[in-house]
Amino acid sequence: MERTLVLIKPDGVRRNIIGEVISRIERKGMKIVALDMRTLDAGTAKTHYEEHASRPFFESLVEFITGGPLVAMVVEGERSVEAFRALAGATDPVAAAPGTVRGDFAMEVQQNIVHGSDSTYSAEREIKLFFPDLA
Ligand code: PPS
Repeated sequence: MERTLVLIKPDGVRRNIIGEVISRIERKGMKIVALDMRTLDAGTAKTHYEEHASRPFFESLVEFITGGPLVAMVVEGERSVEAFRALAGATDPVAAAPGTVRGDFAMEVQQNIVHGSDSTYSAEREIKLFFPDLA
């Protein structure tokens, strides 16, 4: 069974749509195998987003993701990396299809409610970073 890391970012927590996102994951048929709420420190945020370190929005992204509590989850299911990204919608919420999380709840590319690993390789790295004790 494939695993992916999902974050409900601080904007999603602030807007009280944790239940909405979790419900969509469960309705789709995926299983949440680890979950907690935490506020990221800058070091963990920079490691999480390290592939974007040279991009102009990097500092702003780190500030945003550390700016309040988020919900971190490990989600399991058949092709769950792809399945969650389809459920989340395009990174730019204006382009995201209605019916997806971002298409239904967001307008900005930074405050786009959720993060999902973009490959099985990233998923493995991100799950180790967020849930080092998970078997
Ligand atoms: S993707 O889907 O990973 O290819 O998307 P990408 O465009 O590479 O974006 C990666 C993450 O960076 C955030 N992002 C931005 N933040 C602030 N300003 C701008 N302009 C911007 N563009 C992209 C975006 O929300 C992605 O965050 P995650 O948590 O990976 O979804």
